[in-house]
Amino acid sequence: MCGIVGYIGKKEAWPILIKGLERLEYRGYDSAGVALMNPGEILVYKKKGKVSELSKFVKNKSDKNIGGTVGIAHTRWATHGEPSDVNAHPHLSMGGNIAVVHNGIIENYLSIKKVLIEKGYKFKSDTDTEVISNLIEDIVKSTKVSFDEAVRLALLEVVGAYAIAVLSKDDPETIVIAKKGSPVVIGIGDGEYFIASDATPIIEYTDKVIYLDDNEMAIIKNKKLVVKTIGNEIKNPYIQKLEMKIEELEKGGFPHFMLKEIYEQPRSIKDSMRGRESAKDGVVKLGGIESFQDKFFNAKRIIILACGTSWHAGLEAKYFFEEISKTPTIVEYASEFRYRNPVIYPNDLVIVISQSGETADTLAALNLVKEKGATVFGVCNVVGSSIPRATDAGVYTHAGPEIGVASTKAFTAQLTVLLLMCLLLVNKKETLNKKEIKKLLEELENIPEKVEKTLLCNEKVKKIAEKFKNIKNFIYLGRGYGFPLALEGALKVKEISYIHAEGYPAAEMKHGPIALVDENMPVVFIANRGKLYEKVVSNMMEVKARKGVVIAIITEGDENIKKIADFWIEIPETSDVLVPFVASIPLQLLAYHLASLRGCDIDKPRNLAKSVTVE
Ligand code: AGP
Ligand code: GLU
Repeated sequence: MCGIVGYIGKKEAWPILIKGLERLEYRGYDSAGVALMNPGEILVYKKKGKVSELSKFVKNKSDKNIGGTVGIAHTRWATHGEPSDVNAHPHLSMGGNIAVVHNGIIENYLSIKKVLIEKGYKFKSDTDTEVISNLIEDIVKSTKVSFDEAVRLALLEVVGAYAIAVLSKDDPETIVIAKKGSPVVIGIGDGEYFIASDATPIIEYTDKVIYLDDNEMAIIKNKKLVVKTIGNEIKNPYIQKLEMKIEELEKGGFPHFMLKEIYEQPRSIKDSMRGRESAKDGVVKLGGIESFQDKFFNAKRIIILACGTSWHAGLEAKYFFEEISKTPTIVEYASEFRYRNPVIYPNDLVIVISQSGETADTLAALNLVKEKGATVFGVCNVVGSSIPRATDAGVYTHAGPEIGVASTKAFTAQLTVLLLMCLLLVNKKETLNKKEIKKLLEELENIPEKVEKTLLCNEKVKKIAEKFKNIKNFIYLGRGYGFPLALEGALKVKEISYIHAEGYPAAEMKHGPIALVDENMPVVFIANRGKLYEKVVSNMMEVKARKGVVIAIITEGDENIKKIADFWIEIPETSDVLVPFVASIPLQLLAYHLASLRGCDIDKPRNLAKSVTVE
């Protein structure tokens, strides 16, 4: 979690830092702060709450001084110590010489803290981060090495994950950055450098960037940049060109990023399949995995690892891979998988799915399977992030930046890429004939249009949300492809509207959850007209028989369910396998409107962050 921003150059640092923090706020938003280099001192301003609170606080200060052309800033998602002014970053060392912003967790901070306290250091915060600034100060004092060398020596003592940016009062023209386990990017301008957790704060100033690797540090000193390892080996940094566009980072007239991203899905699905398939020829081509294609074709089993919504996309993919390509597939929460010494066979193929490409548990699970010798493919959205850089091969979802904390367009883009991967396998294994493959691809090509059409349900969904905005619980039910959707629909409602919701396979309801059903319990059914239609309708009748309130997502023109359900939302007719693409839309919109009507902070729900870079 957390967003880090830094600037060193000839412009005023404050506006660049604040704007950068706003861009990164999706990563964490319980407190924010800046440190600005001033002659003879480092000025630190920090405040509990969102970045706007920090701006307000600084504007209202009578003695404010926000000059200076060098600074670092941070928007926090607390791991150690409650969100408060004092626990906010940057953390100054006791003597005020060193300022640090940090993303990650210092696992051995207690033992370092103990030694420093014995030496007379006093700590102000409850964070793990504060040990870094005091440790660097202590090394400078006791060894007289240069500032950047002191940072390097400090990092040799530190266990855990970090991306840090550090200032020293005595080296006003220097910023030191380092990375292990948490992301950091350096933008290269004309005699100036921009530092950030991802490229979004940098894009409007330069498209030349360097992504630091784990165990690397960058020293920007007197307008020069040196990259070396924490082990002191000089590196030749690889400068990349950013492809992102600035308009992709704005709300474009929508009240929230989430709604904008829901509406972007016709385009993001299209972008995720563009150039990768041809229905006319019945072929799929995925350049990113071509060199490892044989491993994929010969895999006896696919293991999918992910968290949250990406895990739900993985669960849908299990249905794709098993039903269509006849390949045994298991789907696991990365966080569980990594701690249970799992069995990996030489001909297993692992797919990790992550929007951000930075999720700590997914990254750790990926490293574990790599150690065990597995071939790993990534399905990620953020180009250049840690997961795609650690995998053997992969396919990017081209959803564009997803800013809303609740994942929407990344989910349907993941489904697109996973279905294409599956169809590549189907082509090779011939589990469907050419005609069937062409038909499926044709249907997939028509999905953006069907999603566009489904979006017309927005007003109807809003009206339904009005009726349920004060409800305390929801149940979501589905079978087959509808089951992961039930989980995803429930997750969306929980995370942004704070209403308790549970997703179940519809048939499991009678094994427990049905006891919850009464006239106050809304039950959302994914009830498209497909293979399991009659079964789902029976479950719906069971709910109605217990006075439950049914909200059904139905295939357009389904007059049968319209007579049973209390509320219904129509989706266009598609084969079962493509239902998740269209049925996601009303589920996302329902969560959105419930949250909006309840006055929730939709893009930045409480307690959450966009990328979970801690365990
Ligand atoms: C989705 O709405 C959630 N905010 C969350 O579950 C998310 O999908 C999860 O943290 C995984 O993130 P990733 O895809 O970036 O790895
Ligand atoms: N561990 C640091 C803190 O709690 C940074 C948190 C993070 O990166 O999530 O302040």
